[in-house]
Parts: sequence; C-alpha cells; structure tokens
Amino acid sequence: MCGPSTTNDVAHDLPIKGARHLSWGMKNRLSKLIRPDGRCFYLPIDHGYFLGPTRCLERPAETIEPLLPWADALFVTRGVLRATVPPAITVPIILRVSGGTSITGHDLADETLVASVDEILRVNASAVGVSIFVGSEYEKQTLENLADMVDLCEPYDIPVMAVTAVGKELEKRTAKYLALSCRIAAELGAKVVKTYYAAEDFDRVTDGCPVPVVMAGGPKCTTQREVLDFVHDGLHKGAIGVNLGRNVWQDPYPVAMMRSLHGLVHEDLTPDQASALYSELSQTGTAGA
Ligand code: 5RP
Repeated sequence: MCGPSTTNDVAHDLPIKGARHLSWGMKNRLSKLIRPDGRCFYLPIDHGYFLGPTRCLERPAETIEPLLPWADALFVTRGVLRATVPPAITVPIILRVSGGTSITGHDLADETLVASVDEILRVNASAVGVSIFVGSEYEKQTLENLADMVDLCEPYDIPVMAVTAVGKELEKRTAKYLALSCRIAAELGAKVVKTYYAAEDFDRVTDGCPVPVVMAGGPKCTTQREVLDFVHDGLHKGAIGVNLGRNVWQDPYPVAMMRSLHGLVHEDLTPDQASALYSELSQTGTAGA
C-alpha cells in the first residue's frame, strides 16, 4: 500500500499536449473544458460583440437552452452572460475579453481588451478568449492584447484561449497563415488556440502548435454534410475539438446538428453515421429558430 506507485503522474495529467508542466489550478480549469477523452465541443454565442443581434441569436437564452446538454463550454461576453445566462449553469464559461469594434467600423482588427481580471474572477470564468489578427494593420496591438491577458490571468491560473481571427478577410484561411497565427498565439502564452479549418494541409497547423487546437466554424456552410466532413477531417488531423456557432444555431435543426457534431467529437462517429443521426433527429425533432 505504501510502495512506489507508477500511476500518480498519469492520473495528474490532462490528455492534451503541453499539459505536463501546467500548475494545478490551470489543469483543474482545463480539465473542466477538455473532457477525459481529450476532446471538446464549445458553443460560442459571442458574435454580438461585433455583429449585433446575429440571426438566430437575437434572444441568446432561447438559442442556447436546448443545446447546452451537449456543450463542454459556453463562449460568451460578460453582458450576454449576466443578462441571459442563468447563474446556476453547470457548463463552464469561456469569457470573451477582447472587442471594441463593430462590423460597421473601420477595421475589425482594431481590438482592445474589454474586461479586467476582477470581472473574469467575478463571473467565475474557467477561461478567457482573446482575438489576434496576424498580418493585419493591428497585428502588434492584438498580439499585445493576448500577451497582456496572459500576464493578467497567469497569477490566477486562468487559461487564455487565443482566437486567430481574420475579420472580413476570410480568404486568409490557408494552412500556411493559420499555422503562423496558431504558433505565435502559443508562443505568447495561449493555453488553447481556436482557429479555422483549412481543407489542405490542416495537419501543418496542428503539428506546429504546441498547445491544443480547436476549430471555429465561420459563416454558415451551404450543407450540413460540409460541416460534418470538415469537423471529422480536422479532428483526424489533430484538432481536439470545435467551437461552432453559426453552423449549429443557424441550422434549421440546431439540436440535431449539435447532437450529430457531438457524435463526431466525443463518440467517434463517421460523417456518414453523424449525417444519418442528423437526418433521424431532424425528422423527429422540432425545427429551431
Ligand atoms: C468570433 C468568434 C466566434 O466565437 C467564432 O467565430 C465561432 O463561431 P462561428 O462558428 O459562428 O464562426 O470568435 O470572432
């Protein structure tokens, strides 16, 4: 009973790369955000911070209520959190802490930090999210935002998720560009990086990033199958999960979409199986907003 154990170190480590040297508090928070299978499915509803009342997110409480059972975290601003999310929520919160721009402004990249560490602690966030805009006019400013937020959060063991944003320049989303952005985010101290999927060479993005990579969705795809295929491919090329908003809650059947994506992320379904699940649930389920 008192003899040497070889299992303790393993039990104390998260099943993600870069975890070994993290402190206890950081591991505790990350273990709420990343399931024991090493995967995650975040539900972002932060879009209003630059897009205003985005379609199907006009009333966030109604949008998220049926989806939360399959979400590993909710990515949200402090305003929508306080106004619409019940404080008794058991799903961890990732607080969006960069912003200050709008779709009508001169440049979406011109972001600043919009929440203090006091605020982050008050809402009991498990992590925070900061956008960086590599290659933009505001590259340095947004990289400083990230580094400053890491400095603010490290003393409290709060993980920072970097968001490699492109603003309106969606064509930037190549593996070469995303690999550059993700690596820079990790170098500056991000514990998780959220980035876009690239159809070609996505493994170059995940291989070059020493911390876990999570895929964002971007504007709504034309078909559900397109989403299921890219998520499946990205997971097999090293992403640990997804942070999908519009492709879930703008779908005609958001619960069916959420449930099918959960199948890909956490149940190792194939795209065919996930697609069949979507068809079954959308035929029997209720249409979303
Ligand atoms: C906006 C964000 C969103 O969280 C992110 O874009 C994910 O949402 P979607 O899947 O709708 O793109 O960070 O900058």
